[in-house]
Amino acid sequence: MSLEMLKDHETVRTAPVSEAEALVDVRGLSLWYGAKQALYGISVRFPRNQVTAIIGPSGCGKSTLLRSLNRMNDLVPGVRVEGEVLYEGVNIYDPRVDPVAVRRHIGMVFQKPNPFPKTIFENVAFGLRLLGVKGSELEDRVVEALKRAALWEEVKLSGGQQQRLCIARAIAVEPPLLLMDEPTSALDPIATQAIEDLILELKARYTVVIVTHNMQQAARVSDRTLFMHLGVLVEEGPTEELFTKPKHPYTEAYITGRFG
Ligand SMILES: Nc1ncnc2c1ncn2[C@@H]1O[C@H](COP(=O)(O)OP(=O)(O)OP(=O)(O)O)[C@@H](O)[C@H]1O
Ligand SMILES: [Mg+2]
Repeated sequence: MSLEMLKDHETVRTAPVSEAEALVDVRGLSLWYGAKQALYGISVRFPRNQVTAIIGPSGCGKSTLLRSLNRMNDLVPGVRVEGEVLYEGVNIYDPRVDPVAVRRHIGMVFQKPNPFPKTIFENVAFGLRLLGVKGSELEDRVVEALKRAALWEEVKLSGGQQQRLCIARAIAVEPPLLLMDEPTSALDPIATQAIEDLILELKARYTVVIVTHNMQQAARVSDRTLFMHLGVLVEEGPTEELFTKPKHPYTEAYITGRFG
């Protein structure tokens, strides 16, 4: 599977998304980390109120593409971007656009949730902070104090609860676009199912883009799927079609488990 063979290749598209249906319209997006090119001329539209999954082998650029949709990559030194990402028709890479304002409109949920119900944490941390205790020592001592006060069992959140808390935080500001990077990869099957159910409910109000390593998950939650390889968008289309009738030999090889 060589990059030379893929680079100039046109993305295979099934039932393409029209301009009117798209909340986000990515046009010819290329991205470099320093000298290393991570995305090659990606063009794709993300339809409103649908879930789009991004799949592909490790290192193919899934997270990079996802982060490009809210300019999170701008935080990485040495990143260069070419092409456009139109959000409601506005190119978010236009020099006049403030990246902080972009990130405020677009919610993001990560692989590893933040571990604390903040107000409880801050209550217990109050005195420790005054004493200058910081970082992991602060976290450890807060947990220890909660345990000694016999409150820990009631206030600690499971992994799935933590992730739902992070989703709540992301949607509290009602962002039209919600980006999720492997939100269930650290969770057990029951917690994963709760998150998947939530994603299906969320799409009535939001447009969701989810990166996942789990092809069954992509099949369960998404309306459309993008298959990437070596920074190239190889194929995209309705999820069921992509999984049952892949058109590109690389897509077929990946979904049948022959590489990746
Ligand atoms: N901050 C960075 N600096 C330099 N190179 C990076 C950086 N982040 C990612 N890369 C490189 O860009 C390419 C795409 O990485 P990316 O993290 O987008 O892949 P991915 O598909 O999300 O992989 P995974 O499935 O392992 O999460 C990889 O070759 C990676 O090494
Ligand atoms: Mg990733």
